Amino acid sequence: MLVLGIETSCDETGVALYHTERGLLAHALHSQVAMHAEYGGVVPELASRDHIRRVLPLTRKILKEADCALENIDAIAYTEGPGLAGALLVGASIAASLGFALKVPVIGVHHLEGHLLAPLLEPTPPAFPFVALLVSGGHSQLMKVSAIGAYETLGETLDDAAGEAFDKTAKLLGLGYPGGPALSRLAELGVPGRFKLPRPMLNSGDLNFSFSGLKTAVLTLAKQQTLDEQTVADIARAFQEAIVEVLASKSLAALQQAGLTRLVVAGGVGANRQLRERLTALCARQGFEVYYPKLEFCTDNGAMIAFAGAMRLRHTPAKDWKFNVRPRWDLAAI
Ligand code: KG4
Ligand code: ZN
Repeated sequence: MLVLGIETSCDETGVALYHTERGLLAHALHSQVAMHAEYGGVVPELASRDHIRRVLPLTRKILKEADCALENIDAIAYTEGPGLAGALLVGASIAASLGFALKVPVIGVHHLEGHLLAPLLEPTPPAFPFVALLVSGGHSQLMKVSAIGAYETLGETLDDAAGEAFDKTAKLLGLGYPGGPALSRLAELGVPGRFKLPRPMLNSGDLNFSFSGLKTAVLTLAKQQTLDEQTVADIARAFQEAIVEVLASKSLAALQQAGLTRLVVAGGVGANRQLRERLTALCARQGFEVYYPKLEFCTDNGAMIAFAGAMRLRHTPAKDWKFNVRPRWDLAAI
């Protein structure tokens, strides 16, 4: 079965063709970063309009790359939520229209389920059950994943998501938008240990996170310093060390608490090098296995939506071409 995946939940248009026997055939992405940069963040209306411009040309491109015709598509998966309502509507309505024209099933996918299953696209995928650390711009959760569709929340952020904390901290350090990758690049140049920031909720005894206080601590520290280039890098380093320590420590605690041995890291912050290094080292020491998606499949992409849609279609026969968007949608509730 050949599934076209369409991702338009935020500021990236992603499309992909996933074949249930042949694997991922092609994928393409258009990032709107340059367009939103001058506003310092995502402008929802501009995002929707740009998705409209991009989805079909990108789809034509991947069909050509995979040497497939539109008529070869057996099903279409789109991101139903969570995300920006207008942006989601673009993917949903194009998916439904194409599905109607081709008379093939159309299925709405939970964006976070896409992230969660992205490591299964790798040549050596993790077996179920596993614990997933899902860290994106909008969400930070630890999930117990027993099977496709069986997700239990073990812990989550009480305020900012990890990616949001990276982005907001980057902004107050003057690193612009999108801040996460810029801050993490700068942190590589920072001197470890020059500044020490708090580790929020490290010893809270549960698996929840809180990152908004960390951002405030950075603001206080930045006000006390002369912000030369090295000092900004050192603060970035201290921020990253704090966030990585909390995420890594809670992930290990989640494995122990759930009695599981496999950890999957997903979402944009999963691209962070220091987080990967720390988790790899800690898991090796404890005899746990850790799995990551390819860097390009950590952040938003169409491949994870095509894959999650293909997995869902095995269990859920799609009936008609009605479409829906859910800007707010709890993963544990699906
Ligand atoms: O999963 P994603 O692409 O979109 C959402 O679903 O939110 O995640 C985007 C988030 C942004 O907050 C971005 O700053 C962060 O992931 N991010 C990173 C890195 N790359 C992306 N954060 C830290 N280090 C990175 N290397
Ligand atoms: Zn995402």
